[in-house]
Amino acid sequence: MCGIVGYVGRQDGVPILMEGLQRLEYRGYDSAGVAVAKNGALRVHKAQGKVRDLAAGLPKRVAGPAGIAHTRWATHGVPSDVNAHPHVDATGNVAVVHNGIIENAGVLRARLEQEGVAFASETDTEVLAHLIARSDAPDLEDAVREALRAVQGTYGLAVVDARHPDRLVIARNGSPVVIGIGEREMLVASDVAALVRHTQQIVHLDDGEMATLRPDGYSTSTLDAQPTQKTASTIDWGAEQYDKGGAEHYMLKEIHEQGAAVQGTLRGRLDHRFGTAHLGGLNLSARELRSVRRVKILGCGSAYYAGLMGAGTIESLARIPADAEPASEFRYRNPVIEADTLYVAVSQSGETADTLAAVQEVTRRGGRVLGIVNVVGSSIARACDGGVYLHAGPEVSVASTKAFTCTAVAFALLGLHLGRIRDLGPADGQRLAAALAELPSQVEEVLARDGLIAEVAEAFAGCDSAFYVGRVRGYPVALEGAQKLKEISYVHAEAYPSSELKHGPLALIEPGLPTVAIVPDDELLDKNRSTVEQIRARDGRVIIVGHRSLGGLADHEILVPRSQPELDPILLGIPLQLLAYHAAVALGRDVDQPRNLAKSVTVE
Ligand code: G6P
Repeated sequence: MCGIVGYVGRQDGVPILMEGLQRLEYRGYDSAGVAVAKNGALRVHKAQGKVRDLAAGLPKRVAGPAGIAHTRWATHGVPSDVNAHPHVDATGNVAVVHNGIIENAGVLRARLEQEGVAFASETDTEVLAHLIARSDAPDLEDAVREALRAVQGTYGLAVVDARHPDRLVIARNGSPVVIGIGEREMLVASDVAALVRHTQQIVHLDDGEMATLRPDGYSTSTLDAQPTQKTASTIDWGAEQYDKGGAEHYMLKEIHEQGAAVQGTLRGRLDHRFGTAHLGGLNLSARELRSVRRVKILGCGSAYYAGLMGAGTIESLARIPADAEPASEFRYRNPVIEADTLYVAVSQSGETADTLAAVQEVTRRGGRVLGIVNVVGSSIARACDGGVYLHAGPEVSVASTKAFTCTAVAFALLGLHLGRIRDLGPADGQRLAAALAELPSQVEEVLARDGLIAEVAEAFAGCDSAFYVGRVRGYPVALEGAQKLKEISYVHAEAYPSSELKHGPLALIEPGLPTVAIVPDDELLDKNRSTVEQIRARDGRVIIVGHRSLGGLADHEILVPRSQPELDPILLGIPLQLLAYHAAVALGRDVDQPRNLAKSVTVE
């Protein structure tokens, strides 16, 4: 979704801003713009479409030591050049880029229009530019502060003023803003992806905080003008990790990084002697964890499906009732918060608005929330009482792959840890710890089947619709597999529990319709085989993903290495990512940035 980059320093900021915008493209956007201050004037350029369209229309002479830039994902007003950010006040001195939503923009706009202000755009953001410019405060920071006092809603924002080309003013309330500390230059971005090429030293603003950035330093304060003290932290992801590294798409690169990513999630966390997992960030003692009576997992999209998978793992390893719910539903249904329930928020980005709101609601009512999050220092990570970082490396493709797999691994670690505090015996603990340690190499074995899976994927390319079925542990695998196909290939896909097929969807099976069936070699193998038989009896085409051949029953078989039954879903899910990927490529889709979707949905 929307992205912010800002620069103030001694160099020309334009190339840095434009490169920063490219780094934010993965989040999804529909227009982009840039504003730079130089010699007492602002130069503003905006374009609907891609960052390359903006770059193509940018005159060479546009340069300046202070500037802001933005990728916009339309909320108020259609995608257009005019509605793209930055927005400028009537005098042309003040430019603003903004992520979030100004809820009282309508009222403020009407008031400003009555006072004679002419608006150029339909956006909520433009009111901010006018409010700041009309302030009598002598200092830009105070003018921004005054404007923000009039505003209700969420924002991450950056402001540049032609009259003060030596500074940027930034502020945060509900939408991330990160300062990048450079050598005699300062940057700001809504996502560290735009900073990593310039600095590893960053400072996260908190909600209700603002800052003035100058080339040689920054100062932070609250909206009430109380100074705040911040500590810089180091980004642990290198710039090269954000590169495509020769792969055709980020998605394919990230799928193939999963062996190393799973290794990252496991590193230093397995205790083979006691058959358990060490999770240093939980901030809960063994005694506190013993008192947990229920686990409730919250997330959106693939994070929710990973949570469903995690609920099954926790329930089987720790024998604690566990379930997952979309955070987007949970936050609006006045949920009962129980003191002995452990809430777990799942989010790759750590910025998904619905998941963050759910965490805040649970915390406000006195519930305890752990986060399973990939991005260190993200809003959700910071709002939780503790948690587990995935250490999966940056995920750029909109469709989640390695973060999904690593979340499932993190849940296995959490389940093992909880289980060993309760009734899981040491031998079972050691069995699982050994199986977890095997996973990275087994992931590589699955990935080695890429060529075969690409051939099978041709089955999808010519179809309008597909089914995914799985039983018990296999059902979340099916759900995520169908989600992947929908997201990037736009082929309609539905997932059902295999057991439910005969209760309705079997009516839709017709010759040639592909069904992906998750068929592990476990206690339910015979049940799953009979599901496949029912589909084949109606001439449906069946692709099984499992551990052993069904001897010619299915049309295609993708076999993966066996782990322990509790961990098998982790490996069974990976071929479905490759199936979706190759189907989408065969259909010529924009794999990394599918239509209508954003990498992290930071607004409602
Ligand atoms: C968006 C993305 C999904 C993602 C979901 C949750 O809807 O398109 O791919 O699974 O957000 O994102 P998160 O960063 O919270 O895991």
